[in-house]
Amino acid sequence: MTRLAGRHVLVTGASSGIGQATARRLAAEGARVGVLARRGPELERLAEECDGVAVVCDVVDAEATRAAVDRVAEAIGALDGVVNAAGVVRPARVADADPGDVRRMLEVNVLGLVHVTQAAIPHLRARGRGDVVNLSSMSGRRLQTPEMGIYGATKAAVHTLSEGLRRELREDRVRVTTLAPGLVDTPIFEGLEDPVSQRLRDAAPRAGLTAAEVAGSIADVLAAPEHLVHVEVALLSLDQD
Ligand SMILES: NC(=O)c1ccc[n+]([C@@H]2O[C@H](COP(=O)([O-])OP(=O)(O)OC[C@H]3O[C@@H](n4cnc5c(N)ncnc54)[C@H](OP(=O)(O)O)[C@@H]3O)[C@@H](O)[C@H]2O)c1
Repeated sequence: MTRLAGRHVLVTGASSGIGQATARRLAAEGARVGVLARRGPELERLAEECDGVAVVCDVVDAEATRAAVDRVAEAIGALDGVVNAAGVVRPARVADADPGDVRRMLEVNVLGLVHVTQAAIPHLRARGRGDVVNLSSMSGRRLQTPEMGIYGATKAAVHTLSEGLRRELREDRVRVTTLAPGLVDTPIFEGLEDPVSQRLRDAAPRAGLTAAEVAGSIADVLAAPEHLVHVEVALLSLDQD
């Protein structure tokens, strides 16, 4: 399949999970990809596999992110797509949540996404077309458990800011999509010992989607006819409530 030949796409959160699977899928469909995350070795391996470009960056740092996005655009020749997949989760009830964890989720899931997008906009405008695909979550719309309330709030923010951005970038012929999966089998809960993380980590292989399935939907969004905007895409395994 070469549906995405001629496209130039930056994928954040590409050292793992959905971002990694997305970079693979987009490259397999003909896109030039730039991959971004903090872990260099994983990114380098992926970039080599995808014939793409790796840039190590913490999206919480706005200045570093601007420089990283510019570097990717230059190295792959242009930017007409951004997939914002960098994200973190730290389940906890509001009453018990560690303030550092709360800050981290807001910083990566909301501010980081804004930093990447702000840095990408001049490149997308210069290209005169493009896509921004923002990873939200089913938790941004409906919670399965109260411990996902703060994470869900960061994802609800992704829905709202994506809607503003969609309207903002329409006249530049840049489409904006919010993609909200339910449970996906990725390392996102790795190393977290709270009961909700353990439960979701155990459930993901049987009740979750695969990262490759989510990546396939992202490829479909990018490959849609130019006037067709996937405003919101919600994805759930039939095996999840
Ligand atoms: N898995 C699920 O069940 C699920 C469901 C719905 C939505 N989502 C969303 O989908 C997205 C991808 O999640 P995933 O499941 O693929 O998780 P994952 O496997 O843990 O991947 C998260 C990615 O984000 C990157 N990242 C984290 N903090 C970063 C930072 N400060 N700067 C740059 N990159 C950073 C990580 O790379 P480094 O550590 O190398 O920086 C990693 O590549 C997230 O937005 C998540 O909220 C996941």
